[in-house]
Amino acid sequence: MLIRNEVGSDATMIRRIVTEAMQLLPQATGAEADIIDRLRRDDALILSLVAEDRGEAVGYLAVSMSRIGAESGWGLIGPLAVLPSRHGEGVGSALMAEAIRRLRSTCKGAALVGDPGYYGRFGFRPYPGLRVGDCPPQFVQALPFDAAEPEGELHHHAAFGLTQEG
Ligand SMILES: CC(C)(COP(=O)(O)OP(=O)(O)OC[C@H]1O[C@@H](n2cnc3c(N)ncnc32)[C@H](O)[C@@H]1OP(=O)(O)O)[C@@H](O)C(=O)NCCC(=O)NCCS
Repeated sequence: MLIRNEVGSDATMIRRIVTEAMQLLPQATGAEADIIDRLRRDDALILSLVAEDRGEAVGYLAVSMSRIGAESGWGLIGPLAVLPSRHGEGVGSALMAEAIRRLRSTCKGAALVGDPGYYGRFGFRPYPGLRVGDCPPQFVQALPFDAAEPEGELHHHAAFGLTQEG
């Protein structure tokens, strides 16, 4: 399996992967693929990674620019999605490992909103005071690349459609 940067011809397949994968989540809105299109259009993607197996795109991971409180330089991971027919084969882990590897040289750390049961295996954990609006704090997680503890609101690009303060 190859983890590579998105190319122009991937956009349709990325929409399919994200839409099919997110449909499995109860909190899915159906607008997740639109978020990626908007991030791309606004040039807000730090990373746009495709997992390719035998010439077919099977997984996708986006990272956008973010800040925590007033501290810029954080990479916000998400959406992460793998074609449902390819779950449990290590595609998501391979995308995460490559994203973290690349972000280490350019960012203070990585952060995300997601299931701690999954992201804990990559070193992500909640921090006191790290938050996203009124989202339950256990879902807001970070992986700092230095000793600094992230504290404050994890800011999302407007594409995510959240109402955030400060
Ligand atoms: C979450 C997701 C990206 C994982 O991709 P994947 O390629 O199946 O993951 P991997 O094969 O690398 O890892 C599979 C492992 O993660 C576990 N896992 C998957 N989703 C999990 C979750 N929500 N909570 C806890 N564990 C989870 C599997 O049980 C499996 O465990 P094992 O290694 O002990 O057998 C994929 O299931 C997916 O697209 N889900 C729908 C969309 C989603 O939830 N996206 C993330 C939130 S934005």
